[in-house]
Amino acid sequence: MKRRHAFKGLLWLWLGCGKAQQPRVGVVTLDQFPNVWRHLDFFYLNKPATVIRIPKPQDASSRYLQAGPDMYLQAYLRECPHNGCVVRFHPSAQTLLICYCHGSLFWRADGHLEAGIANEDLPGLRLQLEGEQIVVVGLANP
Ligand code: FES
Repeated sequence: MKRRHAFKGLLWLWLGCGKAQQPRVGVVTLDQFPNVWRHLDFFYLNKPATVIRIPKPQDASSRYLQAGPDMYLQAYLRECPHNGCVVRFHPSAQTLLICYCHGSLFWRADGHLEAGIANEDLPGLRLQLEGEQIVVVGLANP
């Protein structure tokens, strides 16, 4: 019995104190965002994701990265929290993303849920600036 507890403790430490390790992935460079609303798509944890340059956020508690005096970046997975469909840019409403499976709408700037059957925001990603490179360092709320 004691051996079993010791094994669980080691496993817990190996997994990072109970949390699975999330990969650090360099995804883009600053010069790829010349204007606001420029976005680039990539994959993180084998899921579609987006980094987008946004206007200066009104909410200082938001999870954006300030990458320069007037450069603010946001990143999120584009996997719908309702049932896992890929969320896409809305063809006519430029501020929104849409899930075509059941119609949920999310804000393009930060992935917050605007309307629909999904009951959560798009999963946010934490960004860090390393020189000129923007690195995803994990989920905002693992
Ligand atoms: S899977 Fe997106 S709203 Fe259902």
